[in-house]
Amino acid sequence: MTLPDITYTLRTASPAKTRAEAVVVGIGQGAKDVEVPAGAEDVKAAYGRRWRGMLATLGVSGKAGEVTRLPAGNEIGAQLLVLVGLGKPGADGTYTSDAVRRAAGAAARSVPNATSVAVAVPADTPDLVRAVTEGYVLGGYTYAAYKSSTAKSGGESNGPNDVAILSSIARRTDAVTAFEEAQILAQAVAGTREWVNVPPADLTPPAFADAITHVAGLVEGVEATVYDEEQLAELGCGGILAVGMGSAAAPRLVELTYSPDDARGHIALVGKGITFDSGGLTIKPGSSMSTMKSDMAGAAAVAQATFAIARLGLPVKVSAFVPMAENMVSGSSYRPGDVVTHYGGTTVEVSNMDAEGRMVLADALVRATEVSPDLIIDVATLTGHMVMALGDRVSGVLGSEDVVDRVLAAADVAGEQMWPMPIPEWMDERIRSSKVADLNQHDWIRWGGGLYAAAFLREFTGGLPWAHLDIAGPSFNSGGASGHLTPGGTGVAVATLVDYVREMATDQ
Ligand code: BES
Ligand code: MN
Ligand code: ZN
Repeated sequence: MTLPDITYTLRTASPAKTRAEAVVVGIGQGAKDVEVPAGAEDVKAAYGRRWRGMLATLGVSGKAGEVTRLPAGNEIGAQLLVLVGLGKPGADGTYTSDAVRRAAGAAARSVPNATSVAVAVPADTPDLVRAVTEGYVLGGYTYAAYKSSTAKSGGESNGPNDVAILSSIARRTDAVTAFEEAQILAQAVAGTREWVNVPPADLTPPAFADAITHVAGLVEGVEATVYDEEQLAELGCGGILAVGMGSAAAPRLVELTYSPDDARGHIALVGKGITFDSGGLTIKPGSSMSTMKSDMAGAAAVAQATFAIARLGLPVKVSAFVPMAENMVSGSSYRPGDVVTHYGGTTVEVSNMDAEGRMVLADALVRATEVSPDLIIDVATLTGHMVMALGDRVSGVLGSEDVVDRVLAAADVAGEQMWPMPIPEWMDERIRSSKVADLNQHDWIRWGGGLYAAAFLREFTGGLPWAHLDIAGPSFNSGGASGHLTPGGTGVAVATLVDYVREMATDQ
């Protein structure tokens, strides 16, 4: 994975006295002046009367995303002082986890070659310790696997280094737990980014299935089963096969199980794994196709969330279902007018080869119902409609009210933006309008396409409590780094799924 080789520690040291090469200090945007949160005040004190003038001269404001790097003289122990903006504090003078996560992410990119860094952004609660740790680990993520070695060593080379997160509660066990758990979570998010970023020629369904089973073999308690194209035919997974048949690379279905002895619940996760989406015979315009290697982001997220849940030892059983296919154009592609028989026997008339996600998810959802979970959550880069509605940073959540509410609450804890969307009653009529099959895959009415897709998926959930996360927008960052977000795959939904399961573990 392309995470720099860093050893993290949690310490109570003073940022002014630390001997690290660089010290990062979070500063806020106060009403009049730059504000220095408790915990970093000794740095301000060390500069004495010169502090205010120095920041004013440099135009430092403390706004979110601002990074200022200064050589330090004899004032403090570190050689370099990095100021990162936290934005405005809340009414009670504190900073949110989101603000801290973002600032820590920016901090991680501010001193790429330092051998030791101390980070003093607000971390005086376990939640903030978690946010700083996640932010720093993820903000430093880069994808360099395909850079030639000369380019790799030019400028951005990261030697091994030490990062100390400074916190007044560093000795408390709840802080240490938050710190350790945050690293596990961040690794799962980074692992998701990594798979999304791999060029699609190198992450075909068989290669992706191998990659998942490889990691599953390293995580204690997780069992993986892979179904190849012949086994999928035996099972009758018509949707996965139909989408996969236009590609030279065969489709796959990967199933993961984590079954702890003390399980207090059972969740099924389903993730869309289209390793590349050309749109098939209803081919996409080139500009829409250019980021379609990310169409397996849901699959990557549910697999990595399963690994994180197992590594955290959460007492909840997880069954994950990951259907994989490449949606391509060829003489063997599925075509408008075809009728597909899904796993379990439901027939579907297809008309838009670009509505392939629901085809592979339908088979996997029915598989999920068969393990009798308490609920199902599917994660999919499903529709451009959701991107139009919510933009590229907010995921849509649809499905059973209770599960949707709990997903939104988990997303809030996880620091991911999600928003509820309805499945209007009249969608049922649209999805049942086929004259030749049980269901209609698509109807060429543009309005509400993301809601139609969810109504279609619901048909395969066997009436179980269920939520569908449409992550088409937030799964891929086409812009530059910002906070803990880096270019390319974002790893969205992993944190929310893990927090959902964490909450389930506390249910009675
Ligand atoms: N993978 C796309 C959805 C997508 C769009 C993901 C933009 C990420 C960014 C999906 O398979 C698709 O093509 N959806 C169609 C749905 C339509 C045919 C009902 C779309 O968005 O137009
Ligand atoms: Mn598509
Ligand atoms: Zn797609």
